[in-house]
Amino acid sequence: MTEPKAGYEFDYADVAETPGYEHGDEPLCNLSPNPTFYDVVDARTSRRGFLIGGLSAAVTGVFGLGLTVPPASAQTAARAGSSLLGFTPVPISEADAIVVPNGYRVQVLAPLGTPLAKAGPAYRDGADTGADQELQIGSHHDAIHYFPIDGSSTDGLLVINHEYVEPRMLHASYRGRPQRESAVEIANDRRVADEVLKEINAHGVSIVRIGRGADGNWAVVDDRRNRRITGRTPIAISGPVRGTRHVVTKYSPDGTRTRGTLNNCAHGVTPWNTYLTAEENWAGYFRNADQKDQKPSLPREHARYGVVAGGRSRYAWELAAGGADEYVRFDASSRGASAAEDYRNEPNAFGWMVEIDPYDPGSTPVKRTHLGRFAHEGVVFAPAVQGRPVVCYSGDDSRFEYIYKFVSAKPYDRATADGSLLDEGTLYAAKFNADGTGEWLALAPGRNGLTPAEGFADLADILVNTRLAADKAGATKMDRPEWGAVDPKTGEVYFTLTNNTSRTEAQVDPVNPRARNQFGQIVRWTEEGGDHAAARFRWELFVIAGPASQSRTLGGGSLGNDNLFACPDGIWFDADARLWIQTDIGESEQNRGDLAVMGNNAMLAADPRTGEIRRFLTGPKGQEITGVITTPDQRTMFVNVQHPGATTSAEDFGAGRFVSNWPDGGTAMPRSATVVITRIDGGKIGA
Ligand code: FEO
Ligand code: CA
Ligand code: CA
Repeated sequence: MTEPKAGYEFDYADVAETPGYEHGDEPLCNLSPNPTFYDVVDARTSRRGFLIGGLSAAVTGVFGLGLTVPPASAQTAARAGSSLLGFTPVPISEADAIVVPNGYRVQVLAPLGTPLAKAGPAYRDGADTGADQELQIGSHHDAIHYFPIDGSSTDGLLVINHEYVEPRMLHASYRGRPQRESAVEIANDRRVADEVLKEINAHGVSIVRIGRGADGNWAVVDDRRNRRITGRTPIAISGPVRGTRHVVTKYSPDGTRTRGTLNNCAHGVTPWNTYLTAEENWAGYFRNADQKDQKPSLPREHARYGVVAGGRSRYAWELAAGGADEYVRFDASSRGASAAEDYRNEPNAFGWMVEIDPYDPGSTPVKRTHLGRFAHEGVVFAPAVQGRPVVCYSGDDSRFEYIYKFVSAKPYDRATADGSLLDEGTLYAAKFNADGTGEWLALAPGRNGLTPAEGFADLADILVNTRLAADKAGATKMDRPEWGAVDPKTGEVYFTLTNNTSRTEAQVDPVNPRARNQFGQIVRWTEEGGDHAAARFRWELFVIAGPASQSRTLGGGSLGNDNLFACPDGIWFDADARLWIQTDIGESEQNRGDLAVMGNNAMLAADPRTGEIRRFLTGPKGQEITGVITTPDQRTMFVNVQHPGATTSAEDFGAGRFVSNWPDGGTAMPRSATVVITRIDGGKIGA
């Protein structure tokens, strides 16, 4: 039996570490021969005159000596230059609280278990049933978006992704005994069916109307559009994979539909104002016992993504007592006489971007397969231009995976645009060259070696096996691509690369310049001719995160007390082109070792022109800050706090000592929630 890994490592299941399947099984890109960090950084920053006090670390060994550039010295100079950031930075924090700058206030909204309707089941501190959970806000809030009603900044639909669950915090019956973060209770090889139902219903997406009251506080408001999309909601399959052999299952013998969306991390908003939810670390939710390990013959569409070979899946949903079809499907073993009689193809129905129309409660969500199948962190759209293709970007968050771009075949027409634009076009993977140029490699039949002779039968086969196609095309293996954002003023595209401690010296390249990268970096690029559909781009590193001795800002200095951060994850541009940066230092690293100086996970704001960065918010213990949006008037901001208290040890859990009691306080079990941030003077957030 494969014992799931704990916490951070498990959240980011890495195919390279899946038993029996090593990263070396896939051809590595042609990485540059072992340059030092500053060799490659200097190669990519000299255009902007990056300096680090005139020192060349390649000569002085700055990293090894831990040389400290005086904290805040760089920002002191930069602060005067930025008119975009109008707040006083908050300090690093290890408190079990949300801390925001002077002049701001914070309200908690819609924690796990909040009923979608006043008449709905009120939260019962983990005693809630599986059926209750389907009528309540889910767990592990991640991406967030505010869809205004009639353009309002005080009345809108809030859409929240629910990435995963901690069973020990979801089920009251688990309390009082030592429980690890990801542990589930299995007796006689079975799980309690209602626990499984509750966990599946705590995943997915929440859509709730919210409004601001006379007292300035926001609350969930009854509305016919309030609904949950969960790990079991019927969902249509669209695009080139629809109706193909890859997605034939007992539930859908014609391969046109599936049930549920899982591990919903970040998101995207389409130019036609619908919501796309990403399926990130979905592979571990399935097991395939056809082989004891992933070699020699677990199907490549399972193996390349890390579907669990043998053993049980992440939450062992396939073991739900009673053997209902909707639970058995998490066993992707070949059990029937054909694919139409079992769930060997169920994992192929996951790993997509899923389109949801929040304004139409009767609409069926749609998996848009032309955007590729991988550990989708999220997706970000370039501004749509009338008569031009629709373009969006998406990262595959696993170590050594890729950044992708989709360009629609049909032009955007604001009068008729809808999700069908995402069903026809070309998917590309990014190749970053050492000279600061980059190119988009088409993942399409006959292009870049993607031929039947090379194992790619057709477009559907390429898309189901997107990672393998990008391997074949020669894309650049990145340090865990997370969120992307497009600068509304310049069109520059930003992506966070959160960390990659598996990268060796021999695998260092200019865009991923550090071996054993614990701290992450942010890359940005401009498409050739300012055209998002272009085949080439120019890139540079916006910031290299980490402690003072190992960081590099756009201005050439290092990060300091006002802005030290690591593991950038969420990023988002507000309408003024303020770049908001959110951090996700993993549970096993938070407040420990080299990451201890960073404190709790936080949110910062950056000026993309000057490169100045200031810490805006620090979160409670054990959580990550993820997801950010404002109302159209920019006077209310919504931010998610995911998995507070996740760093609680099994023993402390058993003793009722939670690392965090946020947001309820006292001795309460912590819960993921949204926070609402406003200024006491009613001004724009961040200004
Ligand atoms: Fe769900 Fe890559 O963060
Ligand atoms: Ca994330
Ligand atoms: Ca995360």
